[in-house]
Amino acid sequence: MSRIAALIVAAGRGERMGGSVPKQYRELMGKSVLRRAVEVFTSRSDIAVSQVVIASSDRELYAEAVKGLKVLPALGGGGTRQHSVMHGLEALSAHKPDFVLIHDAARPLTSQSLVDRVVAALESGADAAIPLLPVSDTLKRNASLGRWETISRENTWRAQTPQGFRFNAIWQAHREYNGRVVTDDMALAELAGLTITPVDGEETNMKITSPSDLETAQSLLGGFETRTAFGFDSHRFAPGKFVWLCGVKIAHREGLEGHSDADAGLHALTDALLGTIGEGDLGQHFPPADERWRDASSSIFVEHAAKLIAERNGHVVHCDITLICESPKIAPHREAMRARIAEILKIDVSRVSVKATTTEGMGFTGRREGLVAQAVATVALPRT
Ligand code: CTP
Ligand code: MG
Repeated sequence: MSRIAALIVAAGRGERMGGSVPKQYRELMGKSVLRRAVEVFTSRSDIAVSQVVIASSDRELYAEAVKGLKVLPALGGGGTRQHSVMHGLEALSAHKPDFVLIHDAARPLTSQSLVDRVVAALESGADAAIPLLPVSDTLKRNASLGRWETISRENTWRAQTPQGFRFNAIWQAHREYNGRVVTDDMALAELAGLTITPVDGEETNMKITSPSDLETAQSLLGGFETRTAFGFDSHRFAPGKFVWLCGVKIAHREGLEGHSDADAGLHALTDALLGTIGEGDLGQHFPPADERWRDASSSIFVEHAAKLIAERNGHVVHCDITLICESPKIAPHREAMRARIAEILKIDVSRVSVKATTTEGMGFTGRREGLVAQAVATVALPRT
């Protein structure tokens, strides 16, 4: 069996995309663009080694993006894509691969069948196997100020990645034509006169380039669906000097009875969050009989529910909590509560609402025996 290496170049700055984080590290349906691109190769049993080339300033983003994936230690890139590829090929030469598949980290949606076609063409003897797509739009060129020309689209193709090569052939071509500026590796194969076998590219194998591409890629992956669920909790007042509500400690003439910190607001929120993913309730995840949760900060319950949602590649869109009590007065603490919940959930405070009401002296909250919290959570989950 042939020895195949994957080389993923990710050292670009993503200037056309803009933003503070380079596009390959941006999140796409719960995973970074880079992780998706790398997984295309690390998930295959016919790929012996995967090498990623990155900008050294991205080391931390990179470590997070490839956590748990089987990749060689990252290499520093060059000033151009071509030089980044060169660095990668140089490092891979020590692994003596027969073939190398060179891929843009900015293409996260490559299908396994596309990779199969590239590998099959190499196994059949091609020096180079390139995914190509025909051009369907009419092509124009701005020849000079105000003067336009039409370029024939006949026999014109768009080249994608991964581009597959006989390793020694492309490594040699890169060194020999080092002085020529090219934007893909096929261009060097052309210069070196290698035999090139085209394989069918895919429209969905898009290169994330500008901001709207992330949205397109998101819908190609199926997009998100919205789920809403409700949570409820009540706690009885008991001797004490303060209560915890929605993560905020409030001085009060009585405390609240409960095994943990008795934060009914966060308990109701946890149940609502768990409800969005059908994950039972608070008591199931944190049994009251378990000594570990005695006096525990209820923020850990909310964090746990949020983690379960994140593990499903989902995120919290909004939450709304209603506290029902005669006292303490909630209004002075409402903004602190919103801020604390936003902090626990790692979402913007505009996505958190805290409200309060009384029951006009009626019922157990009216008699000040205890208080009630209700929560509604809305989350977005990848459509299944
Ligand atoms: N690339 C690289 N080293 C460079 C430049 C680009 O490894 N010096 C990589 C990019 O990270 C990307 C691929 O080459 O995965 C294709 O390049 P492109 O789409 O142009 O990405 P960027 O150069 O990052 O984007 P821009 O041109 O908009 O700045
Ligand atoms: Mg570029």
